[in-house]
Amino acid sequence: MNGAMTHATPEVQLRKAHAADLSVLLEMMEPFNASEGVVWSATASRPAVARLIDDPSLGAIGLFEARGQVVGYFVVTWGYDLEWVGRDAFLTEIYLAPPARGRGLGSRALSLVEDLARAEGSNALHLMVRPENAPAVRLYAKAGYTEPPRTFLTKDLRRRPAT
Ligand SMILES: CC(C)(COP(=O)(O)OP(=O)(O)OC[C@H]1O[C@@H](n2cnc3c(N)ncnc32)[C@H](O)[C@@H]1OP(=O)(O)O)[C@@H](O)C(=O)NCCC(=O)NCCS
Repeated sequence: MNGAMTHATPEVQLRKAHAADLSVLLEMMEPFNASEGVVWSATASRPAVARLIDDPSLGAIGLFEARGQVVGYFVVTWGYDLEWVGRDAFLTEIYLAPPARGRGLGSRALSLVEDLARAEGSNALHLMVRPENAPAVRLYAKAGYTEPPRTFLTKDLRRRPAT
């Protein structure tokens, strides 16, 4: 995987993040996580973000640019699932700065992420969306995302039951 790799569309470009992008990414991650209701701190996240930038075997972080300006970012991580006969991917974060929204850039940005995931060998791209997030729900439905017939469950393995 090459950090210089660029995918072009008429209005938005995707480029892989470099270590030098860490601060700008953290600045955008704060409002993203606030809007998702995720408890988040730049201090705690910084090493995990830096590790993901450095290690392409984990996934990819990229920036969206329009007219040479950073307008957003995404985070995708790789999994491996026999249901998908190989690598699958989870789009854990996708964000456009407020001035960049509502102009169709989201659709183009998502399509670029799909291209990247496909190019990296992923057979499926998963994501989660809050049902009240109308623009995102609409974006994903238009792009062909469907609800699987199973409920997604999570357990925080950092928490151990008291003995
Ligand atoms: C989600 C996000 C990436 C979408 O990007 P965007 O550029 O605004 O998306 P688009 O302009 O392609 O519009 C998406 C669709 O939602 C529609 N939409 C926009 N605002 C809407 C609203 N308030 N209610 C219903 N639909 C709405 C648009 O009309 C468009 O549908 P259309 O193509 O049929 O016209 C962007 O809004 C964002 O970054 N939001 C904050 C972070 C976030 O929520 N990320 C997703 C977490 S799952």
